[in-house]
Amino acid sequence: MNASPIPPCRIATERLVLRPTNVSDAERAFEIQSDWEVTRMLRMVSFPPDGAEISHWFADHEREWMAGEAYRFAVELQDRLIGIVDVDGISGREGELGYWFERASWGRGYALEAAQAVVQFAFSRIGLSKLRSGHAADNPASGKVLRKLGFRPLDSVRAVSRSRGQEIMQQRYSLLTPNHCQTSRESGVG
Ligand SMILES: CC(C)(COP(=O)(O)OP(=O)(O)OC[C@H]1O[C@@H](n2cnc3c(N)ncnc32)[C@H](O)[C@@H]1OP(=O)(O)O)[C@@H](O)C(=O)NCCC(=O)NCCS
Repeated sequence: MNASPIPPCRIATERLVLRPTNVSDAERAFEIQSDWEVTRMLRMVSFPPDGAEISHWFADHEREWMAGEAYRFAVELQDRLIGIVDVDGISGREGELGYWFERASWGRGYALEAAQAVVQFAFSRIGLSKLRSGHAADNPASGKVLRKLGFRPLDSVRAVSRSRGQEIMQQRYSLLTPNHCQTSRESGVG
């Protein structure tokens, strides 16, 4: 793990630019989350979206980054924010990968391209050795992205979806860094 703060950085992929989020992204995020097809797949956010809550969330991102608690990237295509990819829930050498994109940009491989860059950032810059992620059982597109990233399905659990206001089945996954030394528990031995 990196002991000192990671300086805020931009990542350029073939088609996209990823940069640390900031409070001025809140308005665009509100716009994207106003689409039920996006927000129904996000377990922790409300629908309709709450502008004040979103602003408050973005306002804390710089502090989270410097504290090593979470690293959140705005994904830009030709200077337009089309989605967010983040690693949060960091504890020890583990963290959780999340992402959401505006509907207009789905189906062009942007989520995979951006998430690949963030997975690499998580292992090589943050120094994590394991990432967790998950998706609602009725979100096969997200499952495809996770599998292409190399995530392995773990199990399926009941979880509360705030946006839907009901319980859903959540498929959980994990990804170990290629040089991770598996403990007996992770490998299912013992
Ligand atoms: C999930 C999400 C990020 C995917 O974004 P994207 O940019 O379209 O992703 P990609 O284009 O990289 O890949 C999507 C894959 O799913 C496939 N897919 C799309 N809809 C699908 C469906 N209904 N069933 C099966 N596969 C589907 C696509 O064909 C593509 O696979 P391919 O590359 O083999 O063709 C986007 O749909 C989204 O933001 N959804 C709402 C929020 C969300 O679900 N976030 C994740 C929460 S777990």
